[in-house]
Amino acid sequence: MGINIALDGPSGAGKSTIAKGVAKELGYVYVDTGALYRSIGLYAVRNGAKTNEASEVVPLLESIKLELKYVDGTQRVILNGEDVSEAIRTPEIAMAASGVSAIPEVREFLLSLQRTMAEKHNIVMDGRDIGTVILPKAQVKIFITASAEERANRRLKEHLAKGQEISYEEILKEINERDYNDSHRAAAPLKKADDAVELDTSNLDIDGSINAVLEIVDTKLNALRPQRGMAPAVNRFFFTFVRWFALFLLKIVMKVRYEGLENIPKGSYVIAANHHTALDPVAIGVKMNNISGYMAKEDIFRYKIAHALKIFHAFPVSRGKSDKSAIRTALSYLDRGYNLTIFPEGTRSKDGKIGSFKSGVSFVASEANADVLPVGITKRKTKLGRTFLTVRFGKLIPYYKLKVNSLSSSELKHSRDIILNEVKGLIDE
Ligand code: DC
Repeated sequence: MGINIALDGPSGAGKSTIAKGVAKELGYVYVDTGALYRSIGLYAVRNGAKTNEASEVVPLLESIKLELKYVDGTQRVILNGEDVSEAIRTPEIAMAASGVSAIPEVREFLLSLQRTMAEKHNIVMDGRDIGTVILPKAQVKIFITASAEERANRRLKEHLAKGQEISYEEILKEINERDYNDSHRAAAPLKKADDAVELDTSNLDIDGSINAVLEIVDTKLNALRPQRGMAPAVNRFFFTFVRWFALFLLKIVMKVRYEGLENIPKGSYVIAANHHTALDPVAIGVKMNNISGYMAKEDIFRYKIAHALKIFHAFPVSRGKSDKSAIRTALSYLDRGYNLTIFPEGTRSKDGKIGSFKSGVSFVASEANADVLPVGITKRKTKLGRTFLTVRFGKLIPYYKLKVNSLSSSELKHSRDIILNEVKGLIDE
């Protein structure tokens, strides 16, 4: 199962706009389930059926094939091969949808399509019964409301913007009618799931609502994953001394400037950085407040002296193929509360440009449900020819943005590119 975020609530509460914004921010698939009911409503209207009569609608179901497609991240509904995404957006079809959605056979008909989407992808799904019936195990459930008057106001603006003439009173009446239908029908009436968080958006604009939802998502998803402590207590005094001394030695060899130190959180997470010099791990490590394991390329362990690095928790990874044992070691560091530092380019940059990232970094983050701290390293020479590093710490990327559901290679790449882009943003050209 992917990460499922269920947004339910009455018509016009802004669910779909909010859901779209949230899905975009998280990189999830947005599933608009209302569009499915609307498509059936459309089909019923086109076939002259009374949309609230089960005896007229149910026989039509066997000739309906519905698919959801995504074009540039936007959902398209395909009804028997025809893209009806626009045709379903009329007040007439909204009423028809409300009618057919009260028929249990219609709801049953759409159940598996919705569940399959949630199985396969990380999704934000909006509707009326997502948290209660369709995805009772959704990790996050939010019930979005707004007063009927506020919703009528918003709808009115939408209609006016499209040049459609309609009065406020008419809209309010229609909203009240749909609310009544949706919450009084016998089949899956609109109601808040017991474990849903209620969010009233009457006094929030779109961005405010999206942020409010993102905050709820963040709190819920962080609480759901196993809580990790910090690495086993070492002598704090000794640890601080080692870091201080290493920084002292480092500054003899090169000039180092730090930025974004305030972004370094407590706890255990993956640190992903681009790679310029053999001392990058030291330059990062001296500023961390937790002990880190370091993935280091196998080749360096050819040198006897490199084995000394093992006391600093460096362990070998062979590049180019999937190294199961290195992955296991990496995961065990995170499990035990350590940080894990990875240079996903796999080798040091020769020309000063950042190379492509290997996917291991997102594999590990996803498997461990670990956040990733992006670090950008820029190397320059001072006038006197000394190496001058700028080490810039970015904002922690939450694990749920990197979560790879099916471990499909395209999802891994997507997740990896999120990290790559964050690191790129921290480097001076
Ligand atoms: O969200 P919307 O306006 O597109 O929904 C159209 C109708 O479909 C609405 O009256 C309620 C119904 N619906 C439903 O019963 N269950 C869903 N999951 C989504 C929509």
